[in-house]
Amino acid sequence: KRVTFDYIQAEQFFTERELEQMAPQVRKAHEMLHTGAGPGGEYTGWVEWPHVYDRGEYGRLKQVSAKIREKADAFVVIGVGGSYLGARAALEMLKPAFYNQLPRAQRGGPEIYFAGHQLSASYTAQLLRLLQDKEVYVNVISKSGTTLEPALAFRLFRAFLEKRYGKKEARNRIIATTDKARGALKQLADEEGYETFVVPDSIGGRYSVLTPVGLLPMAVAGLDTDQIMEGAADAVSLCSKSDIYANPSYLYAALRNLLYNKGKTIELFVGYEPSLLYMAEWWKQLFGESEGKGGKGLFPASLNFSTDLHSLGQYVQDGRRDLFATTLWIEGTRERVAVPEMENDLDGLNYLAGVTLDEINAKACAGAMLAHTEGGVPNLKVAVPEATPYYFGQLVYFFEKACGISGHLLGVNPFDQPGVEAYKRNMFRLLGKPSVT
Ligand code: PA5
Repeated sequence: KRVTFDYIQAEQFFTERELEQMAPQVRKAHEMLHTGAGPGGEYTGWVEWPHVYDRGEYGRLKQVSAKIREKADAFVVIGVGGSYLGARAALEMLKPAFYNQLPRAQRGGPEIYFAGHQLSASYTAQLLRLLQDKEVYVNVISKSGTTLEPALAFRLFRAFLEKRYGKKEARNRIIATTDKARGALKQLADEEGYETFVVPDSIGGRYSVLTPVGLLPMAVAGLDTDQIMEGAADAVSLCSKSDIYANPSYLYAALRNLLYNKGKTIELFVGYEPSLLYMAEWWKQLFGESEGKGGKGLFPASLNFSTDLHSLGQYVQDGRRDLFATTLWIEGTRERVAVPEMENDLDGLNYLAGVTLDEINAKACAGAMLAHTEGGVPNLKVAVPEATPYYFGQLVYFFEKACGISGHLLGVNPFDQPGVEAYKRNMFRLLGKPSVT
């Protein structure tokens, strides 16, 4: 079993010939990605990563996470962008919806909180207050070690830990995930003697979820990271052929470019489970930051159905026709919730008695895809049998590979993010940072 991709409900929007014409370009993109000869070639370490990751470091990561699972009441993950979204996507997709509220025995590990992904005073102050009486461990994640949001949060959480436990014990409770040699965080970690994990040089932030950046928080949450890496390794084979008809990830990349060239410039990532909300956020960052440059790129947006069928559904059905949708569908959940039969059928729902919510959700998906296709919105579908660590690993790799290829098809460097610097320069100037011109 594996991740599948289908485009039946997009076929009417292009000809088979047009798709075939993409094949040589995709082969060229494949060459560029695999030889590292394309733009950003120095950041393609993620392509073979599920096969070549450092097993020694991974073993240490599991030991550290086991210790934290035993000792911590709360684990704070500090990071932003690619140093944050992958772990959050995994936790949201794979842990129970109300994980932090579950009794400790049921969780088997600490509550997990995120910080350093924004600059909100309320969020930060309220989180620090919440942690007042808990045993706290912190994982600060920053490849560059200089990003303002996580650096500020880390300063605050470090001060909190040092005040609470003293400098020495605080050091035992801080884990830094950063570059192996460069940056302020690496220097600080060395000086303080923090446990550290490495973000490899050849893997950029948004492609780093399968490195310690994502794996440590996932392991602390009790997710089976072996399964995640196995799923990713299997996806390497699944997504390795240069032929679009033999590689679902490349077919997806080709189709999104084909649709883009036909004026479908906005791609909607659609999920039917609230647990996919952060998968959507991760996907948006992956594609948006990789492709949106040089005045080009699909705009990646996301919708959570059926909730959003009651808000943006109207626009999708009937608004500007510059959209296409990519649904991430989970074939089945482990929960069986059936509609109860009621003696007086005042709400008129007895016709659904015995039917499960999963079955109804599937009909909502089929109904929406059909309606939107008829309304002029091509529909692509990526599906996995269930929401498990194994399939999470497959999905991550499937989308990463599609993104690398897609960026090359578009003619941009999918691995840099020059546009992110512009706001930083202005902000630093306004803040009076020394040495900013
Ligand atoms: O994908 C990227 O490169 C970015 O989103 C980074 O992950 C983000 O800016 C955080 O950077 P850093 O890990 O250096 O703090």
